[in-house]
Amino acid sequence: MTDSTDSRDKQFPKHVAIIMDGNGRWARERFLPRAAGHKQGVEALRRTVRVAAELGVDFLTVYSFSSENWSRPESEIKHLFSLLRRFVGQDVADLHGSGIRIRIIGERSNLSKDIVELIEYCEDLTQDNSGMTLVIAFNYGARQELAGAVQRLAQEVKEGKLAPADITDDLIAENLSTKNIPDPDLLIRTSGEQRLSNFLLWQCAYTEFVFVSEHWPAFDKTVLARAIEEFQNRDRRYGGLISATS
Ligand code: FPP
Repeated sequence: MTDSTDSRDKQFPKHVAIIMDGNGRWARERFLPRAAGHKQGVEALRRTVRVAAELGVDFLTVYSFSSENWSRPESEIKHLFSLLRRFVGQDVADLHGSGIRIRIIGERSNLSKDIVELIEYCEDLTQDNSGMTLVIAFNYGARQELAGAVQRLAQEVKEGKLAPADITDDLIAENLSTKNIPDPDLLIRTSGEQRLSNFLLWQCAYTEFVFVSEHWPAFDKTVLARAIEEFQNRDRRYGGLISATS
């Protein structure tokens, strides 16, 4: 899907994606260990899920561990995994109670059995909820996701089940981990960096990017509302012409 605008309110972002950056810098500025930044990062995530749902966002996708994060020190990787365990363990009941549906995207084959079970547990528990969908990108890399889709489609071509000409952009989208999730309307990256870092490369073809200077642990309703306001002032043309109203 490329156009995820809504006739209810054309300019309101139905799907907001966030690159939660700057936990380490937030901690360093306060002479705290990096772990303290990640801990406050989880608090910011809790806050943001609540606020985004209140504002009427339908899909919130957050980048919580990238395929490239494996190059960090082992102690930090362990810490990030324990934060996921704790976040899911402590928050899943509340999120479920608030009607939030959870989807976790990313590679599972190299995750430990207990993490995979946890992921499946929270997806199964919340799958019939009708509130906001929280998509957690964990052990996610967009290039790896695309390579996986290409491998599956190539296999189908090899087996004679699919003609190369039938590989359309819709078919590729259906083979990504974001199947049935509309493309993000707005992508926010915190902490001043201005790059995608292997996040949702395919899905962000027409996404509006807003870069904010606040580090992720300081992210709150004000920063989110400001980013949404900036989004609302953009003219989304999807390759077309400037609209008559602008
Ligand atoms: C970027 O800060 C943040 C991360 C790599 C991890 C984001 C994780 C959380 C917010 C908490 C975990 C939540 C779950 C659900 C697992 P950085 O460490 O790259 O900061 P820096 O660039 O300032 O060093």
